[in-house]
Amino acid sequence: MADRATAFAPASIGNLAVGFDMLGLALDGVGDRVEARRTDGEAITIDAVYGLDGEPHPYLPTDADSNTASIAAQSFWQAHGDRGGAALTIRKGVPLQSGMGSSAASAVAAVVAVNGLLEEPLPPAKLLAHALEGEQYASGGLHADNVAPSLFGGMILCPESLLPDTVSLAVPEGISAVLLHPELQVNTAQARKRLLRSVSLPLWLEQQGYLATFIAACAANDHALIARSLKDVVIEPQRAEAVSCFEAVRDAAMRGGAAGCSLSGSGPSIFALVATARAGNLATSMEQACRAMGIECQSWVSSMSAPGARVEA
Ligand code: HSE
Repeated sequence: MADRATAFAPASIGNLAVGFDMLGLALDGVGDRVEARRTDGEAITIDAVYGLDGEPHPYLPTDADSNTASIAAQSFWQAHGDRGGAALTIRKGVPLQSGMGSSAASAVAAVVAVNGLLEEPLPPAKLLAHALEGEQYASGGLHADNVAPSLFGGMILCPESLLPDTVSLAVPEGISAVLLHPELQVNTAQARKRLLRSVSLPLWLEQQGYLATFIAACAANDHALIARSLKDVVIEPQRAEAVSCFEAVRDAAMRGGAAGCSLSGSGPSIFALVATARAGNLATSMEQACRAMGIECQSWVSSMSAPGARVEA
């Protein structure tokens, strides 16, 4: 039986433009790490939370009742823990309030780490509901579009009506995701509260059409159809204004040949899907457009089939 386990969980793109709260994509090369060590106590506690600079995090709480990671791990441990408790060390790799699924990555890494302490760890599908408990605490809503891709990897369809089941979708060949993170912050819980409560029938129909077409286009590897359907006519128009560089970055992405470009989750991050051969150049163009607005930024290029969370040690 392991005394310690460390898990990595990737960042993710929520909504993926077409599927508000029900579609998400895992990202390569950026994520959170959580180490769990067994303790004699009965509960989940937190030893330390480190920020991107490796220093103790200035904002994230070490109080286990108010940290996304420990809330998720506690939910899992209450249901499946064998004995004793566990203490977590959280290392943030995903910037806070970035629209990159930061809270989801912490929640998923924590649950995967404590699961890794068990003699017979449970399969990922059994972990989803527990990771969601942590995410719900952070974002104020039940949406799995960051937690599910962070846990399973790839592109996941996860409408609330289906939870805790989800669908792993086929991804097109030769298309990558570019994610640009401008140094701004958007609080997801507040951004969700500001959304209109209803949508007109014509808009609902249009968005449904995009979602269905996009999923079909990905499965058929039809790049032209992906470009025609990767659109958000409901949520993006309500949120774009809060991200001052959005229009400039999106214009640069579309000029650079992106199939589509929108906010990642509630923003401020902005993603584009693009032919893999053009992805590096596209990331550079998007960064240049962002800096021209006076906003510092960072970008990542990711496969659309990035792996999900895993135990590392
Ligand atoms: N689907 C969520 C939202 C994702 O857009 O509010 C938050 O990252």
